[in-house]
Amino acid sequence: MGVTYDEKERIFKLDTPNTSYILGVVDEEGFLGHIYYGKKLKNSNVSYLLRTQEPPFVPSKNNRERCSFYDRFPFEYPTGGVGDYRESAISIRTQKGHVASQLLYKDYEIMDGKPALEGLPATFGDKDSCTTLKVICEDSIVGMQVELFYTAFSDADVITRSVRVTNTGKEAFYLTKVFSASFDMDNEEYDMLSLHGSWARERHMQRKPLGYGIQNVSSFRGESSHQDHPFLALLGKHTTQETGDVYAMNFVYSGNFRAQAEVSQFDSVRMSMGIHPENFCWKLEPQESFQAPEVVCVYSDKGLDGMTTAFHHLYKKHLIRGEYKDKKRPILINNWEATYFDFDTGKLLSIAKEASKLGIEMLVMDDGWFGKRNSDNCALGDWFVNEEKLPGGLSYLVDEVNKLGMKFGIWMEPEMISPDSELYRAHPDWAIAVPGRTATESRQQYVLDLSRKEVIDYVYERISAILKSANIEYVKWDMNRQLTDIGSYDLPADRQGELYHRYVLAVYALQDRMMKEFPKLLLENCSGGGARFDPGMLYYSPQIWCSDDADAIERLEIQEGTALIYPLSTMGAHVSDCPNHTVGRVTPFETRGIVALAGTFGYELDVTKISKEDRDKIPEQVAMYHKYNDLVRQGDYYRLASYSQNHKFDCWEVVSEDKTEALVTFVQVMNRANFKSRRLLLKGLDADKYYKIEGEATVYSGDTLMHAGILLQNMWGDFQAKLLHFVEA
Ligand code: GLA
Repeated sequence: MGVTYDEKERIFKLDTPNTSYILGVVDEEGFLGHIYYGKKLKNSNVSYLLRTQEPPFVPSKNNRERCSFYDRFPFEYPTGGVGDYRESAISIRTQKGHVASQLLYKDYEIMDGKPALEGLPATFGDKDSCTTLKVICEDSIVGMQVELFYTAFSDADVITRSVRVTNTGKEAFYLTKVFSASFDMDNEEYDMLSLHGSWARERHMQRKPLGYGIQNVSSFRGESSHQDHPFLALLGKHTTQETGDVYAMNFVYSGNFRAQAEVSQFDSVRMSMGIHPENFCWKLEPQESFQAPEVVCVYSDKGLDGMTTAFHHLYKKHLIRGEYKDKKRPILINNWEATYFDFDTGKLLSIAKEASKLGIEMLVMDDGWFGKRNSDNCALGDWFVNEEKLPGGLSYLVDEVNKLGMKFGIWMEPEMISPDSELYRAHPDWAIAVPGRTATESRQQYVLDLSRKEVIDYVYERISAILKSANIEYVKWDMNRQLTDIGSYDLPADRQGELYHRYVLAVYALQDRMMKEFPKLLLENCSGGGARFDPGMLYYSPQIWCSDDADAIERLEIQEGTALIYPLSTMGAHVSDCPNHTVGRVTPFETRGIVALAGTFGYELDVTKISKEDRDKIPEQVAMYHKYNDLVRQGDYYRLASYSQNHKFDCWEVVSEDKTEALVTFVQVMNRANFKSRRLLLKGLDADKYYKIEGEATVYSGDTLMHAGILLQNMWGDFQAKLLHFVEA
């Protein structure tokens, strides 16, 4: 395992438990080529795959077919402007306006563990869990050094990549594109899998055949977005949930991104991922460096299940941090859908009183507690308690909630400023805008220019003061609009192209500072629901609100797409009111509870107003959460049936690490008349162990459950759900 270098052949090999990644240096000029990524190989003697002996594509000095070589060679980190016409991974512009560059191998270093990425979230590991390879390349004409970092994990089938660019010349140059990963493979007729969505419809899976040319998913909305997700996978034509090849990339970043696959004229595929080049232009002065974010690469020969397991294991062990990394989260009740802006201390306390009797453990006060915020059209930025609504301030309210034996959490949207706010009236230039152009409003708000130190300091001072003013144990950090009118009153003309990225770095710096000052805080990120559900945010918050759509049936597809990559412990999921506030659907209270159980679990309704019948079910759901949450959070997740594909029912399973228990969730979306029972095959059990369903007498062997399966009877009515708890017999 780890990283090896074959000095004679000039080949680097990275190994994880079941995969190998191989790259090599070719020719005396030092071209760096991608040789192999796939199932683990014993040896690294596969350099023939670079096809450097196939005329006219040979890497000899500038001969008549030099361009053909450039345009066909599987570059490990391709540049543009000298003959490779496929998408480059890096672009620059010199002071003289030239854009050509070429990176040639210079040196390497192999390190135990994994260096942190300055200012950026990234996966981490020590010498026992990973090894890092640094390959140094340079363009001596531009005066640019590029360090390519690769980390191979020994406890997850993952290779991470990142890039650092340094100006080693005498003049500044502009980085106009810097992807974090790229590799070229032969095209094996792949399908492309991505996660597409919209507000309240995040992360729906989309699979389509890969054709010639460029296909990509991207965001230049300033955040990872509801619409596309910083994830891309290439799947063999016959790849299924359980079998076949998958090559996946996921970006540890929360801003603009592009994830791309390009099929060339020679039937090769170039897969790449990085910061979106749209409006990106970073000035690098001599000796300055730019650190690009991290890409997580996964190869699985066990279909999507193998890919999901690799991501889940990595993120659980090597990305999520802090107090709640391995801890059960308090069951919360959030007042947003219960009251919207119409609340005061009395109303919140009456909800808390009822909730505490039912076993709910934390009250979260959502939007509307500050400034003159009685609707969503004003006051963002005025982070001062509205004492008309909350007489006695936060400390009185929080003390009263604490007296009920409950924790208290608060909503904030620190990155924003309303045009109608005291803050904007005092500092109109603090909003992101192009001077002279009226900036576009969205939800009647602007985004703060977090590239300015005084703005960050103001925001942080407010966050810190609020958190110190009472016993606040949870923050829901929201971000409710995307960026437009990219302009900073502070940055010089040739640094305006840095604003998008500086903004993301500032969000990370703010959350980092907050978590350092308040290390016991439970942070839940949110962005108009799940528009910033990405590994970057997971580095700061162990959970993220999945979607503003909490309808149990809509959630099936949203949670399926989210759990394709992210552990169940990260998915903010609540039981919400009915008819549902987003789609108007009426679903049984039990079903809402069972679906929310696959995430962090909580309530988003007014417990004082729902029917007694539903309210009486809450203590049972609370008990169910306490009984199963360790398993849900720590176990291995498997998808057994997908409603998004069969349009009838959904089914997933979580198996404990020691395979002594499993929880199967079955949701029958639509009932069917005159229908036989369904056969369901389990996954991930120990074939030699014996199991029974808790409360039933029949004993099944693990292999029977996985290969012959069980029968599930039809349930009466639509939107029905059922839990089956398998325990070792
Ligand atoms: C966003 C969030 C909601 C709620 C509102 C408050 O839409 O996703 O959960 O907090 O903001 O304005």
